[in-house]
Amino acid sequence: MRIGVLTGGGDCPGLNAVIRAVVRKGTRDGHSIAGFRNGWAGVMEGNSFELTHENTSGILHRGGTILGTSRTNPFKVDGGADRVKTSLEAAGIDALIPIGGEDTLGVAGRLWVEARQPVVGVPKTIDNDLDKTDFTFGFQTAVQIATDAIDRLHTTAESHNRVMVVEVMGRHAGWIALYSGMAGGADAILIPERPFDVEEVCDRIRRRHVSGRTFSIVVVAEGAVKAGADGPSDGGTDVDEFGHVRLGGIGVELEHEIEERTGFESRVTILGHVQRGGTPTAYDRVLATRFGAAAVDAVNAEAFGTMVSLHGTAIRQVPIEEALAEPKLVDTELFETAEVFFG
Ligand code: F6P
Repeated sequence: MRIGVLTGGGDCPGLNAVIRAVVRKGTRDGHSIAGFRNGWAGVMEGNSFELTHENTSGILHRGGTILGTSRTNPFKVDGGADRVKTSLEAAGIDALIPIGGEDTLGVAGRLWVEARQPVVGVPKTIDNDLDKTDFTFGFQTAVQIATDAIDRLHTTAESHNRVMVVEVMGRHAGWIALYSGMAGGADAILIPERPFDVEEVCDRIRRRHVSGRTFSIVVVAEGAVKAGADGPSDGGTDVDEFGHVRLGGIGVELEHEIEERTGFESRVTILGHVQRGGTPTAYDRVLATRFGAAAVDAVNAEAFGTMVSLHGTAIRQVPIEEALAEPKLVDTELFETAEVFFG
């Protein structure tokens, strides 16, 4: 078979490890592999090149994606879905492996349901908000980067008796905030799933100071919502082709409000795209490699319309539609465990 592969949406540590695995396993199983550049944009344009053992060597540990990526949605382009079909036919593609999050896989799911395009998805996102998989690759690396940052902020917070607010990514899910906050010993973790009251956060910080502690660490997810607010803070930017606004700004708001209300000097650190850059952790390299190899197995079995996923320690396939029905949000039990350590 001739297998196509693409990476779509935000880049994510581990993408190259998946590409490498698809090529190694795919060629071993007798297939040839075409890499499409820049996500669905490259598919629509017929922009691809041959992926080989040679040109995918030495990329396992590298961040980013050798294929490039974009947030292009063929269903938002006039005749886009038809162009995808024509281009895949012209390139002789028998099966396509899109590596992406809810947007990229949403396109894949529609192409399967509406046009019977043979696709097998691989779940990628630092946000870990894709359902029907215990983890997406990239998440663990983002959490490690955020945890390292919190550790460093701890020592400077302590030296200056400051409140440090750390804003992390995650879109509308609090996974990165919760995991890095727990790992970094945060005094408050604010996530989209739990609208928060600023005065309560300030009370917690005051109580810490009364009990002799002179600094505090607050981890806030970019999508966290103040109680009573219409939605999360954003820069008022235009929505992308998938209808997402660019989130961010809650950290700055909190820095000002906490300082004003408590009188304690506060500083904000917005980790931003640092969380997505650089080398993947060993865990993510292994998960990405397993996902890539399993995607080729799914192609061999002609299990199209599915996504490879992690269940406990096993890799399975689930229908893409099921994975995308609802986002995977932080569960109450986990948050309650984290809360025990607040303040
Ligand atoms: O989905 C991954 C993610 O990094 C989110 O956490 C964040 O909201 C968004 O992408 C940022 O997107 P962009 O790269 O377009 O700024």
